[in-house]
Amino acid sequence: MGNENSGEQVLDRVLTLEIVRVTERAAIAAARLSGRGDEHAADQVAVDAMREELNALSIKGIVVIGEGERDEAPMLYIGEEVGKGTGQEVDIALDPLEGTTICAKDMPNSLAVIAMAEKGSLLNAPDVYMDKIAIGPGYPAGIVDIDAAPADNIKALAKAKGVPVSEITACILDRPRHAAIIAAVREAGAAIRLIGDGDVAGVIHTTDPVETGIDIYMGVGGAPEGVLAAAALRCIGGQMQGRLILDTDEKRARAARMGVEDPNRIYHMEDMASGDVLFSATGVTDGNMLMGVKFERDYIRTDTLVMRSSTGTVRRVSAKHSHSEKFSSKTS
Ligand code: FBP
Repeated sequence: MGNENSGEQVLDRVLTLEIVRVTERAAIAAARLSGRGDEHAADQVAVDAMREELNALSIKGIVVIGEGERDEAPMLYIGEEVGKGTGQEVDIALDPLEGTTICAKDMPNSLAVIAMAEKGSLLNAPDVYMDKIAIGPGYPAGIVDIDAAPADNIKALAKAKGVPVSEITACILDRPRHAAIIAAVREAGAAIRLIGDGDVAGVIHTTDPVETGIDIYMGVGGAPEGVLAAAALRCIGGQMQGRLILDTDEKRARAARMGVEDPNRIYHMEDMASGDVLFSATGVTDGNMLMGVKFERDYIRTDTLVMRSSTGTVRRVSAKHSHSEKFSSKTS
C-alpha cells in the first residue's frame, strides 16, 4: 500500500508504538462484551480502558474528536485534556469502540481507533453527519468527486483501474437515506457491499481492494468517523472528500462555534488531517483487514494496524498479552 504523503516528522516516533497499547487495551475491554447485546456497556468499558491508557502517556493531549460534547459525555469529551501533561502537545481523535452495534451483535469490523496529530491539525468536526467519498492509493488526483453523479464516479474509477464497471465494488452504509445512491450504483453495473455500521473500516478497506474486495466508499456517516478515516488515509494513501451536513440552524451554529466558517465547504483529506499524523486501529470483532480479539487459555491476542503519515510506514502488530489484572473484565 503506497503513500504519497510523506512530510516533516514532528511527533516523537515512540508515540507510534505507544498508541498501539491504547487501542489494544480498548479493544480487549470491548471484546469481552462482544455479542452480549449491550452496546452501551461495550462502549463504556472501551472508553474507560482507552482513557486510562491514554493518561499513562507522556503527552499534553487534547481530545478534538471524542465521545461527544462535554455536557453529553463525561469521559473523553471534546476538549478533555489527556496524558500526563508532559511532553508534546497533540490533538487526538478517538473512537474507543467504532461500531458499537456490530460489537454488541458480534458482527464483523468493529474497531478501537485513535489518531494523534500535531496540535491544530485535525478538523474539529461537530457530531453531525458528513457526506463522504473515498478511494485507495494509486489513482490520479481528482478522479472521483463528491459532487459528481455516483455513476460517473464509479465509471471514472473503473477506467482508472482498467477494469469493467462490473468489477468495481462500492461500500455503502445500509440506510434508507442511501436508497437513491444504491440504485444509481447498481444501475451503473457495480456491486455494493452494504454494511450495517462501521464506516471508518469501510473507508480504510478501499486502501486494499485485493484483501477487502472494496474499491470505493460512498455515502453519509458520522463526521467524527470521517475525520478518523481521513487520518488513516493520510497515512496509508488514498483520496477522500467530505462535506458536513448542517441542515438546521442549531447544527450550523454548533459548527460555527467549532470554527466552521463555510457550512458547505468540501473538506479534502488533508483539510481533515494535516501535518504529521499517527493512526492506530485494533480489531475488536473479526474483520476484512483485522482479526478481532482472541481470548485464549494462556494469552489474549490482538491485531493492530498502526501507521504514520510523515514516513508512510504501515505496521501490522500482532500481539500476545498475558492475562493480567489490567486486561481483566473487572478493570477494563
Ligand atoms: P457507533 O460506533 O457510534 O455506533 O457508530 C457506528 C456508525 O455506523 C459509524 O461508523 C457511522 O459513521 C455512523 O454510525 C452512521 O450513523 P447512523 O447509524 O446514524 O447512520
